[in-house]
Amino acid sequence: MKSILDDANKHQYGVMAMNSINIEMVRGGILAAAEENSPIIIQFGPGQMKKHAHKEEMFPVIKELAERVHVPVALNLDHGMDFSVITDCINMGFTNVMFDGSSLPYDENMKKTEIICSLAHSKGCSVEAELGHVGQAAQEDDSDENLYTDPKIAQDFVKYTGVDALAVAIGTAHGNYPKGKTPKLDFDRLKELKEILQIPLVLHGGSGSGEENLRKAVAYGINKINVATDAFSAAKNGMVKALDQDPSIDYLELCVIAEESVKKFVKDYVQIIGSSNRYVFNTENITIHE
Ligand code: 13P
Repeated sequence: MKSILDDANKHQYGVMAMNSINIEMVRGGILAAAEENSPIIIQFGPGQMKKHAHKEEMFPVIKELAERVHVPVALNLDHGMDFSVITDCINMGFTNVMFDGSSLPYDENMKKTEIICSLAHSKGCSVEAELGHVGQAAQEDDSDENLYTDPKIAQDFVKYTGVDALAVAIGTAHGNYPKGKTPKLDFDRLKELKEILQIPLVLHGGSGSGEENLRKAVAYGINKINVATDAFSAAKNGMVKALDQDPSIDYLELCVIAEESVKKFVKDYVQIIGSSNRYVFNTENITIHE
């Protein structure tokens, strides 16, 4: 994931990190990325792993599909908190792990992140951490400035830990916002964070952010945008529409529709955040557009 995000940081574009919990989502996402000549990050978190997306089952599927396309595909552990899950993922071959110590006291977050960085880096795996706290949209955490990332503290954190990418809290939150609400992002803070840190920055809670916010966030320094809720909704809405039209539609057809819906969603998304046509296949090499 580091090489993907370093290029995005250098050339100022965003890469989609889609939470994916089954083969339809993974295939829809990776095929969309290939058609768009775009990198993509597939990720899932410990809760999703427990309920449905078991990492031992997901890993070979993602690896197989990733190897078939010409664009780079990274696999990220999202919101890792438990040391044993994080080390399992590193040993299994995830290309990045996120350690989310954002609810811990600052020193503890910093020290644990540093330990995980040393371990992951020694195995060729990169690390994302979180400072400040991206909370829940349903609780209106997005507008709680006490949770936002402090640029000076972030500078200290990044220097000490050697983290590869940092998730910053600038006004988004996880999940659906109350109906009709679009979050207000603190772009001045984002600009300052980027100027000071210079490393790839991550926007959690990408769902419901709105096209204008997404474009501006990328322009001000966001390089990875995490999307779960909107991706799940794309799959679900496709299936609901098909069921409305024909309640006797069979399950296989519904799965195909879910995959196609996710694929369309990802294709539109990567165009908005600027990662389309960054990677084109030629017979000699895979080249990166300047
Ligand atoms: P959303 O569900 O709001 O898109 O958040 C996803 C996320 O940030 C995963 O880490």
